[in-house]
Amino acid sequence: MAMELRFDKKKKIGLRDPKLFGQFIEHFHRCVYGGVYDPASSFADEQGLRKDVIEALNRIGVPVIRWPGGCFVSGYHWQDGIGPKRIPCFDKAWKVEESNLFGTAEFLDFCRKIHAQPYICCNAGTGTEEEMSDWVEYCNQTQGKWARLRREHGYEEPFHVKYWSIGNENYFDGELGSRNPKEWARLVSRASHMMKRADDRIELLAPCANNLEWNLRLLAEAGHRLDWLSVHSYDDMLQQVNEPSSYEQCILWLDNVKERIEQAESAIHLMGYRNKIHIAIDEWNLRGWHHPNVDVPGADYLTPRDKNDDNSTYTMADAVYTACYLNECFRHCNSVKMANYAPTVNGRGLIYTHDDGIVLRPTYFVFDLYANLLGDEILDSWFDQENRFALSVNGKEQNVNWIDAVPTMQNGRLRIALVNKHPEEACRVFFASSAGELELFTLNGKSKDSYNDIDHPETVRVEREILKTKASQKEIYLPPHSVTIVREL
Ligand code: AHR
Repeated sequence: MAMELRFDKKKKIGLRDPKLFGQFIEHFHRCVYGGVYDPASSFADEQGLRKDVIEALNRIGVPVIRWPGGCFVSGYHWQDGIGPKRIPCFDKAWKVEESNLFGTAEFLDFCRKIHAQPYICCNAGTGTEEEMSDWVEYCNQTQGKWARLRREHGYEEPFHVKYWSIGNENYFDGELGSRNPKEWARLVSRASHMMKRADDRIELLAPCANNLEWNLRLLAEAGHRLDWLSVHSYDDMLQQVNEPSSYEQCILWLDNVKERIEQAESAIHLMGYRNKIHIAIDEWNLRGWHHPNVDVPGADYLTPRDKNDDNSTYTMADAVYTACYLNECFRHCNSVKMANYAPTVNGRGLIYTHDDGIVLRPTYFVFDLYANLLGDEILDSWFDQENRFALSVNGKEQNVNWIDAVPTMQNGRLRIALVNKHPEEACRVFFASSAGELELFTLNGKSKDSYNDIDHPETVRVEREILKTKASQKEIYLPPHSVTIVREL
């Protein structure tokens, strides 16, 4: 297969926000405890944070990181996790003991060490509006009892946390303290008022559901105080199955991503908030696997989620999915201005921690390539012919897009992301460029099911190549199931 990618260097969709490479850590599984925070590890620094994780995150440059949940936050009381005396409690979301040793100060230390902006998600499940605004005061105020308490805890200067969200998935019946659309709109209206009184420089997010009534009521009642709508995006179908999904199932799910973004966009436009309220996809990943300790009556599919930490289930399928997902965010860069990969460490994360070090999963390298090598200006593009192939999923053929391409520009030079989604066939892509040299970075493994693990940490890796050519029409070879970045030198 061969096709030509067409674009006009002057025809820009918009500017990509760096916050699209955001991350998310939750008190969930081994993400915080035993992940980023592990005082018993030989890799821990003086604050108990893992140095190898910090170093890996600094390499990909995390612009913003959300914490502490997720479902966890809907039963979390931040005052249990501050100061010298921590109050351990039972985490009702994931049904485990929570030590509260990793709290506000530890999260903010972690943010400083990875050079990320903190984004705090508040408890709008079992918490109150006042508890949320008190947290803003504790972090950002110079006056009042909460600012004094912060100083007593050794932090003279405010932390200046800019991003705050009211709640998590409170539209979902399984969330602690879930609400109906009417109750939700009221709660967000009251909470946003109080939080912005605690500090009017903060930016506020609130969850947007897969439910028009929810979104419209929310915007009608609280839209004037919101800066962002928060969208969560996982493969709902893959969550329901016992076994890790096939490469083909993962690719098929990509067709739903655009729709989810445009649903949030249309609520914003409909209510008159275009360019005023942005979209933060503040939890996204392919596989929404849950905590192994959680048992939902009648849902025996939850048992195999012990595989949360099994590297063999995070393959090139995840890398291809991740690259295509980021491409979709780039194409919607005028409305989607933040995205947080969920979670960063362990579970279905980018990095897997173990006693002797870390494993960088295939998805880690997608962030490495995208954050470090692509340009900020996103160009419009199209192919000269139909860019589809028949994907066979569970014995049924379905047509999907073959090559997912996003040309970008940086300092007048072209940088293109090219993803070949086909499980078996390579493809050649042509495009116009006057550059005499191109630099190519290709992420791949031998098979679509390749993955990295403790004993073979580089099965999936990036290969670099220089292409010298005088031709005005460049030709790039894309192996099956691969992610490639091309740069004009
Ligand atoms: O990451 C696990 C859970 O998935 C999060 O807590 C929740 O927000 C999402 O549905």
